[in-house]
Amino acid sequence: MQKKRVLSGTRATGRLHLGNYLGAVKGMLALQDNPDYETYYMVADFHSINTSYEPKELAKETREVVLDYLAAGIDPQKSTIFVQSQVPEHIELSYLFSTVISVARAFHLPTYKEKVKLQPQNVNMALLYYPILMAADILIYKANAVPVGDDQLPHLEIAREVARKMNNKYGLDFPEPKQYKTKGYKIPSLLGVGKMSKSVEGSYIDLTDDLKTIKEKLAKNPTDKGKGDEIPTKGGVATLLSLVDIFEGEEKKKKYEKAYLSSGIHYKELKEELAEAIYEELAPIQKKRALFEKDADKVDKILAEGAERASKVAKATLVEVRKAMGLV
Ligand code: TRP
Repeated sequence: MQKKRVLSGTRATGRLHLGNYLGAVKGMLALQDNPDYETYYMVADFHSINTSYEPKELAKETREVVLDYLAAGIDPQKSTIFVQSQVPEHIELSYLFSTVISVARAFHLPTYKEKVKLQPQNVNMALLYYPILMAADILIYKANAVPVGDDQLPHLEIAREVARKMNNKYGLDFPEPKQYKTKGYKIPSLLGVGKMSKSVEGSYIDLTDDLKTIKEKLAKNPTDKGKGDEIPTKGGVATLLSLVDIFEGEEKKKKYEKAYLSSGIHYKELKEELAEAIYEELAPIQKKRALFEKDADKVDKILAEGAERASKVAKATLVEVRKAMGLV
């Protein structure tokens, strides 16, 4: 049987946080160990330059994501790990794709509108073009499964639309990629509003945080008096309960919920225990990261091999599309 292909990408944001880990990386790990799938995992550095960024920092931010991937267990023997800009075929394919998506369609994407609001002084062409490049990232490998969070669903919709249109118009065989969901895919912010996000200070725990830092960050998570008639479904308490669920199990969460409705929760204790549980999961990742940090040559080699493997597939797809579109 032909293996299904998986492609996932993370913007070159620097160190990954718990939300990235539980929302995307865990799914990436499950897929790489599933014999039905062939996995491609990239750091999307081309995507990072459509918002304000520091050129001197970009290579470092890209590297941090690669190190976190490797530390978390993404295995170069099982997955193709690469940096997007080292496979420039993505750009060429995205240009070809841009011919089948209307300008109006791109302007109406919620993610585009959000970015425009966030940085009205830098509404550049690349920002509008983002989902088309993402469609190329996925379809250049003919990937069917994409482990991403719900915020990326409008982009996946574009990728599906591109696939359909290219297939109808040019007789190609692109699959329509689907989201691959994992438990805990949406990790709430420690501030109690929205999700964990690199762009919101105080909202996240980094994979590289030590126990003390995790404790300090959790200590700032807003709570209430510890009891009430109804278990909160949003805000800081809801965040804590969902983190308990993920790191200490459902039983523990139920115990706290019961306490909330009766004797009350002692948040100090809850937070101490939760910090320990989170750290327990992160400690082995941090140990592994330290080994890769020391061996830059090895990481370079992994990336060079990854780019080579990815390029082979990418080039083959591009040849097909160019030919179908009449480009000599
Ligand atoms: N848009 C994704 C994000 O912001 C990153 C990304 C770029 C991506 N290309 C991709 C994710 C392709 C999945 C597949 O997180």
